[in-house]
Amino acid sequence: MATVTYDQATRIYPGSDKPAVDKLDITIEDGEFLVLVGPSGCGKSTSLRMLAGLEDVDEGAIRIGDRDVTHLPPKDRDIAMVFQNYALYPHMTVADNMGFALKIAGVPKAEIRQKVEDAAKILDLTEYLGRKPKALSGGQRQRVAMGRAIVREPQVFLMDEPLSNLDAKLRVQTRTQIAGLQRRLGITTVYVTHDQVEAMTMGDRVAVLKDGLLQQVDSPRNMYDRPANLFVAGFIGSPAMNLIEVPITDGGVKFGNSVVPVSREALAGAEGERTVTVGIRPEHFDIVEQNGAAAKSLSTDTPAGLAVTVNVVEELGADGYVYGTAEVGGAVKDLVVRVNGRQVPAKGTQLHVVPQPGETHVFSTSTGKRLTG
Ligand SMILES: Nc1ncnc2c1ncn2[C@@H]1O[C@H](COP(=O)(O)OP(=O)(O)O)[C@@H](O)[C@H]1O
Ligand SMILES: [Mg+2]
Repeated sequence: MATVTYDQATRIYPGSDKPAVDKLDITIEDGEFLVLVGPSGCGKSTSLRMLAGLEDVDEGAIRIGDRDVTHLPPKDRDIAMVFQNYALYPHMTVADNMGFALKIAGVPKAEIRQKVEDAAKILDLTEYLGRKPKALSGGQRQRVAMGRAIVREPQVFLMDEPLSNLDAKLRVQTRTQIAGLQRRLGITTVYVTHDQVEAMTMGDRVAVLKDGLLQQVDSPRNMYDRPANLFVAGFIGSPAMNLIEVPITDGGVKFGNSVVPVSREALAGAEGERTVTVGIRPEHFDIVEQNGAAAKSLSTDTPAGLAVTVNVVEELGADGYVYGTAEVGGAVKDLVVRVNGRQVPAKGTQLHVVPQPGETHVFSTSTGKRLTG
């Protein structure tokens, strides 16, 4: 087992002047499950392939344990990779596919058989060892690809979107299996996905990339609770965090008819700006008034908070999501609000919402950086 260190590692593809991976700096702990996540083209596969030795490192270094592997050929790195398309040999049986790398390495036959059988047991593949890949389901093929990596007992597992060829239900099952297996084997793993739910449910830590630049590395919990910038805030979480540009006022920000308190320290970070961008997750609104009727009959005051017109209601049973619009600073803005599944508002009505105390995220509108602690 081993740590993995990306030390300012950079990849600039020939003919390009912009790095595909730009000074990547991450230390992955021994036995850790690290997920690299980000939109298509952000440099996930390139980062993984640099670690595998399948892509040059133009600047910086990569280490496995205390070995500098930056310029080592793939076969000398002691890693095993699981690809998106599994890359199984169609003419070989499951057992031969799983044992192939060991055979090439000159491992004695009996030892290979033992290792393949052990891995097959772990992966529930024992009864399929004699079959060819074409006689397997997608999920079984995926497990053979995992088995082929496991039998090598590498220092590091690398996986590039290994679930993207499975249907939705199987993908959910398999992600639990892979995460469980990784924990059992305790092998340092770098896992690539574009799916933030996969990242959040599988990783010990998650690293978010955008345009080749690392945005944040954190535990799933911290990533959700304290996104470091507007990009991470919008990328992690489904439905996405509401991000609303609001005017700064005395002691806070103006949110519809209410003032949401924001600390002086946080607002100091927005020095010289008239607005900040406030982030509120759909589950962090309090509904102070539904339909706009009740409170008006009791008082002549304008209702507190922000008026949201309900356009669509998505009912999920336990919860409902209101997709609505609100007028903020003269512009119409889309908003998502989670509501009780048993009390969903009707389409076309109005809600007044305020953010729950302590559940607002404040970002600089100009730099995107998080301002709240
Ligand atoms: N072999 C290559 N030659 C030139 N550019 C490449 C090559 N592979 C990837 N790229 C570019 O590098 C960037 C990162 O690609 P990649 O690492 O594959 O992204 P991801 O896996 O996150 O979708 C993209 O802009 C992509 O077009
Ligand atoms: Mg990729």
